[in-house]
Amino acid sequence: MTNLLDASSSGLQTAARILREGGLVAFGTETVYGLGGDATQPQTVARIFEAKNRPRFNPLISHFADAQAAFTQVTANPLAHKLAEAFWPGPLTLILPRAPYSTVSDLAADGLPTLAVRVPKGETVQALLKLVQRPIAAPSANRSGRISPSDAAHVLEELDGRIDAVLDSGPCLVGVESTVLDISNPERPTLLRPGGITLEALQAVCVTIFMPETEVDTAPASPGRLLSHYAPHLPVRLNAVDVAPDEALLAFGNTQPNGAVISWNLSESGNLEEAAARLFAGLRTLDKQGQSHHLRGIAVQPIPQHGLGLAIQDRLNRAAAPRPALPCPRKICQHER
Ligand code: TXA
Ligand code: MG
Repeated sequence: MTNLLDASSSGLQTAARILREGGLVAFGTETVYGLGGDATQPQTVARIFEAKNRPRFNPLISHFADAQAAFTQVTANPLAHKLAEAFWPGPLTLILPRAPYSTVSDLAADGLPTLAVRVPKGETVQALLKLVQRPIAAPSANRSGRISPSDAAHVLEELDGRIDAVLDSGPCLVGVESTVLDISNPERPTLLRPGGITLEALQAVCVTIFMPETEVDTAPASPGRLLSHYAPHLPVRLNAVDVAPDEALLAFGNTQPNGAVISWNLSESGNLEEAAARLFAGLRTLDKQGQSHHLRGIAVQPIPQHGLGLAIQDRLNRAAAPRPALPCPRKICQHER
C-alpha cells in the first residue's frame, strides 16, 4: 500500500522519516512529481529503478534544499555559482564534476564522473529537503517511458503499491521537467534537455549555449534524451492542421480545426506557461478517453517555438517518436516505451 500524505507538518515529518530510513516517497516539485529516495543509500536507489522499471544506464538528479548543500557534492565553478544565483530554487539542473568526497552512491550517479544537482522550488519540497538533509535522488514519478505525473493522483496511477508514500502538494506549477545544462566544462555549457528555464533566460546569463544532436544509441550523453519517452498508449501526430473523426485533439490557441469528439486545449489564449503546466495532464486525459472511445490517435496542433515552447515540443516529439525495441544491455529495462 502507498500512503497518501498531505503537506501538513505531520505529513512532512512522516515523509522525511521514511526517506531517512531508506524508503521511497514521491513528492511534488514545481516541475513534475519526483520519486524520491536517499541518494546515498545504494539499496534505496536500486528500489527507485525497480519501482520505475527504469533502464539502469539512466543517472538520477540529486535534489537539495539550497545551493550550499548541492555544492558539497560537486566541484562548482564560477558559472555554476552564477547560474545558481540566477535560477535556484527553480527548474534548472546542473551537471558538474562529482566531488571526490561526494556521498551520492555510484548507483545514483551511474558511475559517471559527473553529477546532476538541482534545487527545486516550492514550499513543500523545500520544507521536506530541509528536514531530510540528504541528497534526494528523484526521477519523475512515472513508469519508465511513460507520461510524467503533474499531480498526486497521476503518481498513484503509475506507482500505487510500488512506493511507500506520496506527499501531496497539489498540481505542479511549471508542468515540464527541469532544464538540464551540462557545465562540467564551463567553456562549453551544453543544453542536454530543454525544460522549465527557457533557452532565452539561460542565454541571458551564459551568452553561448551549445546543443548536442539527439542521440539514439545505447549510451547517450543524457539518457532522458532517448527518442521515445513520455509516451501515451495512443499514437501521436504532430503539427496537425486538421483532425480526423477518430482522433482526439490536443489543441493550442483559439483557432481549432473542427470535428474532434474529444479535445484538450493547452491554452486558449496561446500562453506557453499555461500550456506547459497543462501538457502532461492533457496527454494523460486524451490517452485515457481516446482509448475508451476506441480512437486511433492523438492529433496535436503546432506549438510556437520560443520560450517554453521548446520544452513542450521536445516532450511532444518523444511522445510521437516511433517505439522500436531499443537495444538494451541490462535486464531491468523492459520495453515499455
Ligand atoms: O524536473 C525534473 O528534473 C524532475 C523532478 C522530479 O525534479 N526530475 C526528472 O528526473 O526529470 P529524470 O530522472 O526523469 O531526468 C533526469 C535527466 C535525465 O535526462 C538524465 O539522463 C539526466 O537528467 N542526467 C542525470 N545525471 C546526468 C549526468 N551525470 N550527465 C548527463 N545527464 C544526466
Ligand atoms: Mg522522466
